[in-house]
Amino acid sequence: MQANPLREGLEQERVPEASCLVIFGASGDLTQRKLIPGLYSLAHDGLLPPGQTIVGMARAEMTDEQFRATMREACDAYARTRPVDASVWESFARGLFYVPGEFGESSSYDRLRARLREFDATRGTGGRRIYYLAVPPQFFGQINEYLGAEEMVRDPERGGPFTRVIIEKPFGRDLPTAKELNRVSVKTFRERQVFRIDHYLGKETVQNLLVLRFANGIFEPFWNRQYIDHVQLTVAESIGVEKRGNYFDTAGITRDIIQNHMLQLLSLVAMEPPVAFEADAVRDEKVKVLRALRPIEHAVRGQYAEGSVLGDHVPAYRAEEKVDPQSRTETYAALKVFIDNWRWADVPFYLRAGKRLPKRVTDISIHFRPAPYPLFSKLGMKMHANVLAIRIQPDEGISLKFDSKLPGPTVRTAPVTMEFRYATSFGAEPPEAYERLLLETMLGDATLFARRDEIETAWAWLDPLLTKWADDPEPPPLYDAGAWGPEAADELIEKDGRKWRRP
Ligand code: BG6
Repeated sequence: MQANPLREGLEQERVPEASCLVIFGASGDLTQRKLIPGLYSLAHDGLLPPGQTIVGMARAEMTDEQFRATMREACDAYARTRPVDASVWESFARGLFYVPGEFGESSSYDRLRARLREFDATRGTGGRRIYYLAVPPQFFGQINEYLGAEEMVRDPERGGPFTRVIIEKPFGRDLPTAKELNRVSVKTFRERQVFRIDHYLGKETVQNLLVLRFANGIFEPFWNRQYIDHVQLTVAESIGVEKRGNYFDTAGITRDIIQNHMLQLLSLVAMEPPVAFEADAVRDEKVKVLRALRPIEHAVRGQYAEGSVLGDHVPAYRAEEKVDPQSRTETYAALKVFIDNWRWADVPFYLRAGKRLPKRVTDISIHFRPAPYPLFSKLGMKMHANVLAIRIQPDEGISLKFDSKLPGPTVRTAPVTMEFRYATSFGAEPPEAYERLLLETMLGDATLFARRDEIETAWAWLDPLLTKWADDPEPPPLYDAGAWGPEAADELIEKDGRKWRRP
C-alpha cells in the first residue's frame, strides 16, 4: 500500500506511566459503550503502557472473570477497532479487575485499597491512581468524601505518585448546584487534579478549531467583526430522548447540549490566541469569552411533536418513555448571542440545538460580509457571501464557499465550494472522543477539560434564561419531529435578514 504523506509523523505518540484507573459505576452504560471500548482501542493502537490496570467498581456482585466477559461483549459491540483482536484482548483483559462495593460503605473502600496495593506490587502501577466517577452527580460528594477520608488521595503539593479524578457531566443543573459540586471536589482534590469531561473537547474536529485558527496565518486577519457578518453553530440530532427520558425531562436541551458542548465550541471559535498551548493558557482565553457574553435577549425554545425522521414515524416527546405527558421541557433551543469585546462587538452568533431534527450534524459556519462593491450584481447576477463551514461531525471536514465564473463566453457566476475531508485526506477515522480524553488524563494534561470557572461562568450566564422558561406557564411551541425546529426559530434569524444554513 502506498504511504499517505499526510499521515507521516502520526506514529510519534506519547505513552503515559502505568496507573490504576478505578471506574465507579462500572456496570453502567457509559462504561460499556464508551470507557472500556475506548481503553481497548487505546491498547490496540499501542497507546496504553504495559501494566495499565483498570478496576471496575459497582454494587453488583461479580468476579474478575465475569467482569472481563461482560466487557469483552461491550468491546465486540462498541470498540472503534473491531473485530476485537484476540491477542490484544488477552493482554488488555489481564489488566481488568472488578471490586464489588456500595459507594456509601467504608468497607468497600478498604477492599478497593487492598486490591490497588496488590496491583502496585504485581503490575507496576506505583501508587498512581485515577478515579473515574461514571455515576450520577448525587454520588460525587459521597465518593469524594470516602476517598479523602480513607486516605486514597495524594496531595500533589507533597510530590510522589499522582492521584486524579475524572468527573462526568451533568456538572450541575444551575449555578448553585455546580458550585456545590465544585466545593465538594475541591475538599478532596486540588483543581489541577480534577478532570471535568466535556466529550466534545475530545473530538478531533473540535481540537482542529485551534489548529485551523492558530497554525495558519491567513485566517487571523479576517477573524473579527470587520470581515465576519455572523456565525452559526448547529448541534442537530435525529434521535429523540431514547431511554433517557428520566434525566432529559429534568434537564432539557439547553442544559444537555448548550451549557456545555455548544459553549465549548463557541469559546474555541471566538477566543483570543492563547500564549501557549497548555491547559491554563487555553482555558484562560476560553473563560474570557464566556465572561464577555451579553445577557441573553433573544431565545426560542421548542418541543417535538410526533412526526417522521429519516423515513420513520416517531412519537411526540410527551409520549416518550419516562417523560411527563404534560412536560414543558424544551427539546430544541435557538439563541442569538453577542460577545461584548473588541473582536466581536455586534457580531451575532446564532446557536441552535435540537433533538428529532432531520439529521445528525454538528456544524459551525462563519459567514463573511459581502464584497464591498456589487460589481457583478449590476450585470444581474446574484452574489453570495463567503462561508467557511467547519463540519464537526459526521463527514468531518472544512469547506469554503465562494463565487466563481461559470465557464462560457458570458460573465455568469455561481457559488462553488472548496473542500477538505478528514477521511479522504488522512485515510482514517478519527479516534473516539473518550479515547483521547482518557489518554490525556493519564498524561496529566487538562487542556481538553473544563475548568471550574468555565463551568460556573457558563451557568451564571444561562441561569436567568432557564429560570424565565421554568416560570413561563406556556408550554414550548411544538415542532414536528423531522423539521428544523419551531417556526419561531426561523423568525429569530430571518428578522435580521439572514437565514439558517442547511448543513
Ligand atoms: C450528550 C448528551 O452529552 O451528548 C446527549 O447528553 C447527546 O443528549 C450527546 O445525544 C451528543 O453527543 P455526540 O457525540 O453524539 O454529538
